[in-house]
Amino acid sequence: MISPVRLVQLSIMLFSIHIAVCKLEFTNIKCITLDPEFAVFDYCFLKSINRTYKYISLRAKLLKTPVTKVKVNAATFQRLNGYKPFLYNITVDGCRFFNNRKSNPVASYFFNFFKDYSNMNHSCPYDHDIIVDKVSVVHVYTQVTAVLPVPHGDYLFHTDWFAYDIKRATVDVYVTLN
Ligand SMILES: *[C@@H]1O[C@H](CO)[C@@H](O)[C@H](O)[C@H]1NC(C)=O
Ligand SMILES: *[C@@H]1O[C@H](CO)[C@@H](O)[C@H](O)[C@H]1NC(C)=O
Ligand SMILES: *[C@@H]1O[C@H](CO)[C@@H](O)[C@H](O)[C@H]1NC(C)=O
Repeated sequence: MISPVRLVQLSIMLFSIHIAVCKLEFTNIKCITLDPEFAVFDYCFLKSINRTYKYISLRAKLLKTPVTKVKVNAATFQRLNGYKPFLYNITVDGCRFFNNRKSNPVASYFFNFFKDYSNMNHSCPYDHDIIVDKVSVVHVYTQVTAVLPVPHGDYLFHTDWFAYDIKRATVDVYVTLN
């Protein structure tokens, strides 16, 4: 026999999981190389293991290593009538950022989305493939809601990757919050 109290506890637990699961979904990921002689993507995908475990992974192969000058532009968009700029548009010097993460709180915020899942957590030079491995939807949801409540809707997290001030690749992650 399950006691009524236990039943209520169980219900609350399942309900909480349900909320955590349903609030955010990855809907697409697109990795595009603009300079295939500089970098190519070995893979770039989102995967659903089951209802609670969904993740994104990518691997960029750098073909002209070592890379000693990196810049990243990250911008967030909200879909209204097409995707419109929303909230953030930052550009970060990748080599400098890793020497002093506290210098740029917004960049740190974005980096927190994947820092525990990536081998990109050091300063220049980069002389290896860049891997982002299994960033889960629950992790992203926790990061998003820990900082600010974002209205329901469709969002795009767009990043441009520059090396030596030339744009080499873009990575777009689409999510839905509901
Ligand atoms: C979903 O898959 C993960 C990884 O295989 C597993 O740990 C988890 O228990 C699964 N959850 C459900 C609800 O099946
Ligand atoms: C972000 O800012 C840069 C520099 O100010 C600008 O060139 C770029 O178009 C902006 N991107 C978006 C999506 O607004
Ligand atoms: C980068 O991440 C790896 C793997 O998680 C870890 O072993 C390493 O200490 C991290 N390096 C830095 C500089 O944070």
